[in-house]
Amino acid sequence: MHCGIDFGTSNSVAGVYREGKIHLVPLENEKKLLPSTIFFNYKTDTRHFGQKATNLYVSHTEGRLLRSLKSLLGSSIIKEKTKMKNSFVSLENVIQIFLSHIKNKIEKNMQSEITSITLGRPVFFVDNDPKKDREAQNQLEEIAKRTGFKNISFCFEPLAAARQYEQTIEKEEIALVMDLGGGTSDFSIIQMNPRAPSKVLANDGIHIGGTNIDHIISLQNIMPFLGFQQELAETLKTPNHLYFDLSTWHRIHMLYTQKKKKIVEELLHTHPHIKELGRLNQVIHYESGHDLLFKAEQAKIDLTQSLETKIKLDILETGLSKIISQKECNTSLEHTSHQLKETIQNTLKKANLKEEQINTIFLTGGTTKIPFIKESILSPFPNAKIIDNNTFYSVAEGLTLHKPKDIKYSHTKEPKK
Ligand SMILES: Nc1ncnc2c1ncn2[C@@H]1O[C@H](COP(=O)(O)OP(=O)(O)OP(=O)(O)O)[C@@H](O)[C@H]1O
Ligand SMILES: [Mg+2]
Repeated sequence: MHCGIDFGTSNSVAGVYREGKIHLVPLENEKKLLPSTIFFNYKTDTRHFGQKATNLYVSHTEGRLLRSLKSLLGSSIIKEKTKMKNSFVSLENVIQIFLSHIKNKIEKNMQSEITSITLGRPVFFVDNDPKKDREAQNQLEEIAKRTGFKNISFCFEPLAAARQYEQTIEKEEIALVMDLGGGTSDFSIIQMNPRAPSKVLANDGIHIGGTNIDHIISLQNIMPFLGFQQELAETLKTPNHLYFDLSTWHRIHMLYTQKKKKIVEELLHTHPHIKELGRLNQVIHYESGHDLLFKAEQAKIDLTQSLETKIKLDILETGLSKIISQKECNTSLEHTSHQLKETIQNTLKKANLKEEQINTIFLTGGTTKIPFIKESILSPFPNAKIIDNNTFYSVAEGLTLHKPKDIKYSHTKEPKK
């Protein structure tokens, strides 16, 4: 049996196409959306996935949380081993454990063995480096093989997202798909025709998504409480790399190595009067880096609904908090929105089209929920019809429809820049 898995930076969804229908599989209780998060419980020597993993971590169960590992594909870090209690586990092995969990869920749900898979992939796993980009797909393919899949194919995520919509159109249209996810933002322009196969006119993408926004919010609003950019001497500031790692989902665990712990301990030793360094040391000691970044992510989500939000930082010091306004947050997103618009312009250029020739915009991915981003990327297309009704599931649904023989179709444009 064939399945489609949207292994996302932040969330994963899986399904099969059977008896003329798409079946998305419940991956966590009744929920079909599984946060791409894994928790290694040191007390019970068990592994947990999704929201349960996060819940165990935030309730201070002893163990290690990992999230956003898709962002490491294409880099050699994926081969590195991270210390878990008494053993070392490579990050590619962690992804394999996560995919195995999903495979088991599908097999149990469908009562059938699954050996064939279409995996989604961003247009570029790695920006401006075709060799690393190819390497990223190879790594994921290798992991899928070790998970037990025999027939493995890939499809660009934005192309998969539009598959269902393509089947509903009544007249020819040119659609621009915008998939703004956790790790990447991907764009495809597709000429759709109800009586003929669709034609892919252009694909483009950029390694920017919701996790980068969490990073910006954390660096600006939380990290200063831990000493980010603090002067240690006349021309010496605290090392940036510590704060960059601590506010990057897929790099947090790197701060928990002996080497990094030592750097922080020495800094604290030479500057015992800087209370922020004491907090940094505590965060690393208690491995509460994810806790802080979850707060940044929640603030981002809250600010899509309210003009102001309060980040409570009692884990650093009782009563400590930071208020952020929507206006401030939007200002800090201007560069991100500019980069997204530039990538959209490139996609149009590749297709040799002008904005007004786009009839439909198909929006998907969690980051389209941010009104400032959404308005800014839609502003060049005032007359296009907007389809925005399936934020988290459209990619996986399309992947289930994507039979292995379609692979040539999905890769009419090889990832290159
Ligand atoms: N209501 C919301 N408002 C703002 N951002 C949100 C909201 N809900 C989810 N997000 C953000 O959307 C992102 C996840 O979106 P999505 O599930 O589409 O990504 P993904 O498929 O896992 O990532 P990718 O496709 O890049 O691998 C996260 O950064 C999350 O914080
Ligand atoms: Mg996605």
